[in-house]
Amino acid sequence: MLSLSNKRILLGITGGIAAYKCAELTRLFIKAGAEVRIVMTKSATEFITPLTLQALSGNRVHLDLLDPEAEAAMGHIELARWADLVLVAPATANSIARITHGEADDILTTLVLATPAPIAIAPAMNQGMWADAQTQANIAALDARGYTLIGPGSGEQACGDVGLGRLSEPEEIVTACAALFDTGALAGRHVVITGGPTREALDPVRYISNHSSGKMAYALAAEACAAGARVTLISGPVALATPDRVTRIDVVSALDMLAATLDAVDGADVFIGVAAVADYRPAHIADEKIKKSGDEIMLSLVKNPDIIAEVAKRENRPAMVVGFAAETENVVANGQSKLAAKKLDLLFANQATDTFNSDSVAITVIDAEGATELAAGNKHLVARKMLQMIAERLKLPSAH
Ligand code: C5P
Repeated sequence: MLSLSNKRILLGITGGIAAYKCAELTRLFIKAGAEVRIVMTKSATEFITPLTLQALSGNRVHLDLLDPEAEAAMGHIELARWADLVLVAPATANSIARITHGEADDILTTLVLATPAPIAIAPAMNQGMWADAQTQANIAALDARGYTLIGPGSGEQACGDVGLGRLSEPEEIVTACAALFDTGALAGRHVVITGGPTREALDPVRYISNHSSGKMAYALAAEACAAGARVTLISGPVALATPDRVTRIDVVSALDMLAATLDAVDGADVFIGVAAVADYRPAHIADEKIKKSGDEIMLSLVKNPDIIAEVAKRENRPAMVVGFAAETENVVANGQSKLAAKKLDLLFANQATDTFNSDSVAITVIDAEGATELAAGNKHLVARKMLQMIAERLKLPSAH
């Protein structure tokens, strides 16, 4: 599957007529799941406007090394570090010469020098300029340095000549860039995960909750991202940093979590319910702080919706709906009845008392076929194994 999920492409545009193709190129990168930031040389702006590219990439275009506003948003060294791939397209004969000689007199050439990311070059120029010995020597030098060359293609040129020197078609460039990355087991998939506890308000200052730390969900989110998925993490209140490249939606109560989940799962491939959702919520939330009175008070609680069961019964349910069960007794038997009752594809069960707030976990995997043990370990390592299982099952024909 062609995917650039989560990949950060820094597109450097130089001043050739083929620069107009960068509008389509940017659109295709985004369609393939990439995030695109663009830098342009001054002459590139004569061929296509920064505004067009800003609108298509959703990010401000960087034009000048010394622009204080652009530098405040993301400095050029930060931009160089941000990229997973730097692509210069179209790369004119002049820009190829300048890159070959290590010049750094504009933002594009500076970024090319500063970036630790791989660099790809898609040349576009008149066929005579391409065939010239100096250009060929420059290209050979870049090739020897490990740059990836994309094209050029052959055909009719803007100047009327026919020959080698046309910018490769945007589809070919995107395919060549995607091939530079290892495609993970979940490349191109959208994975939605709930995590952490929910808080059910009693009054403006008090709530009912549980000890879930969110660590398992956050480990799964980070690892799903590393496996190439686009990840949405719907998180109850936890004290954890959002994993890189994960879209996090913060919620408080079970009802908030349900609404955010139903919004997010449309079109998703995988839903993993890791959250320790409160089973009940107070029947009424007092408008004012509840006053101390008497030795006992009665709380009336009502049942919360079962979020994962709501997801599983949707007509367009994700291909894999995966639950967790933190049990204190009869882990396998309770897990099996939950799998059936909630119509799950897979359930990861564990001993609740061993798991909450811990960095490691021991899991029993339960599906329609039976139960197997997953070797205990750090939550990140276990998360990787879980995602591998999910990815393998995604390839099988759906049972729904
Ligand atoms: O029934 P129990 O709470 O043990 O089920 C656990 C599984 O169901 C977990 O995947 C959890 O995220 C999900 N769940 C839910 N909504 C609830 C209760 C549990 O999504 N209200």
